[in-house]
Amino acid sequence: MKQIYIRGGVPLSGQVRIQGSKNAALPILAATLLADGEHEIKNCPRIADVYYMLDLIRSQGAAVRWKGHTLYVDTRQLTPGPFSEKKEGTMRSSIFLLGAMLGRFGEVDLEYPGGCVIGDRPVNWHIKHLNKMGAMFCDSDERIRAKAVRLTGCEHTLPFPSVGVTENLIMAAVLAEGTTILHGAATEPEIVALCIFLNSAGAQITGAGQREVVIRGVQALHEGRIQLCGDRIVAGTYALACMMTGGGVLLQDAPVSQMTRLIPTLHAMGGHTMISPQGLYLHRGEALSTVPYTVTEVYPGFPTDLQSPLMAALCVAKGESVIEERIFGNRFRIAPQLRKMGADIYTENRYAYIRGVEKLHGACVTAEELRGGAALVLAGLGAGGETYVENCGHIYRGYENICRDLSELGARIYSE
Ligand code: EPU
Repeated sequence: MKQIYIRGGVPLSGQVRIQGSKNAALPILAATLLADGEHEIKNCPRIADVYYMLDLIRSQGAAVRWKGHTLYVDTRQLTPGPFSEKKEGTMRSSIFLLGAMLGRFGEVDLEYPGGCVIGDRPVNWHIKHLNKMGAMFCDSDERIRAKAVRLTGCEHTLPFPSVGVTENLIMAAVLAEGTTILHGAATEPEIVALCIFLNSAGAQITGAGQREVVIRGVQALHEGRIQLCGDRIVAGTYALACMMTGGGVLLQDAPVSQMTRLIPTLHAMGGHTMISPQGLYLHRGEALSTVPYTVTEVYPGFPTDLQSPLMAALCVAKGESVIEERIFGNRFRIAPQLRKMGADIYTENRYAYIRGVEKLHGACVTAEELRGGAALVLAGLGAGGETYVENCGHIYRGYENICRDLSELGARIYSE
């Protein structure tokens, strides 16, 4: 399913169920390595990034089985060793294996993580702060190798509330000697999910979701369980799709309380929302209005992962707008692709200047990364004529079945 074909111009209508959260699932899968037992993860999305992570933990002796969207990970027969597969280099979240492996086995050896082409994405803070807990890193260009006799709890002041660093340090700290305190931690809902999972396994973490997190190290953990909530970025992507096409959709299981920054943007663009026990209902009747200035920020600010879908929608909104990308250095890669469809966008450093046009036209465009790829699909839905999005493997890293979901909402979209 490498290409997606869209005939645009159909207003979306109907309801679709939002899959479980990718960015909650990935660190939790790494965290299963911290304890012996059969862990249960309900509502786990069946996406390429989850399958990659499962390959990695399987290579350490974990056994996994699916029952629908419930995933069972059995870690009672772990055989830790270097991660030999090529796969860890392809996915950014393999970095979580650092905290989990050092915390449990005092040793880790993995390839430098890859992931989307959205900036340099260095790992310097991960290394610096794990080093502070007693991990010794070897210098190597290709692999990250580290050892620790036993990690020791300490106080960390993070230079920036990095999601991955916060998650890695929490995983490293749960079995460390003594107490770890994180100042300036990230507060994303995915961090809360990780801590719910770890506490269900016997960890002692307080303050998850706040800037200060305290982790008291324990001797051992046991099996953990969690039900993942809906993916706020997938829900936001489909909400912005509906803004582009007009119509009305019910996003079942959308995690509305985690979407407090997006919803006012939808209103400003001319959307009407209703929150119900089923999820988020969104309707756009009148013309799409622009939002003059959007800045991506850490949670609860506007999420960087929705910046590209928003950009696609602003291309056909009435008026001019500016997006300031503050989280990643290289996240405007779809601008040239959108220009092929008739968009009027100019980018410079961390700013994108967009002048809305009446309509985009279909074109053959290329997905270069996950969220940008999804945004090109949105552009195709809103455009006149036919759009081919090539290289869609990136999109399946994070969207279980974007074609199925959007077809359920009436879109004319097919994959080949
Ligand atoms: N950073 C450093 N050094 C480090 C770590 C991070 O300079 O050692 C910088 C990054 O380069 C970036 C900023 O800190 O400029 C924020 O990065 P962060 O560590 O918060 O991001 P992440 O943990 O790598 C997670 C999500 C991303 C999401 C970001 C921001 C997962 C698996 N990934 O990445 O999700 O964009 O937080 O919210 O949780 C996606 O789902 O499409 C995606 C990219």
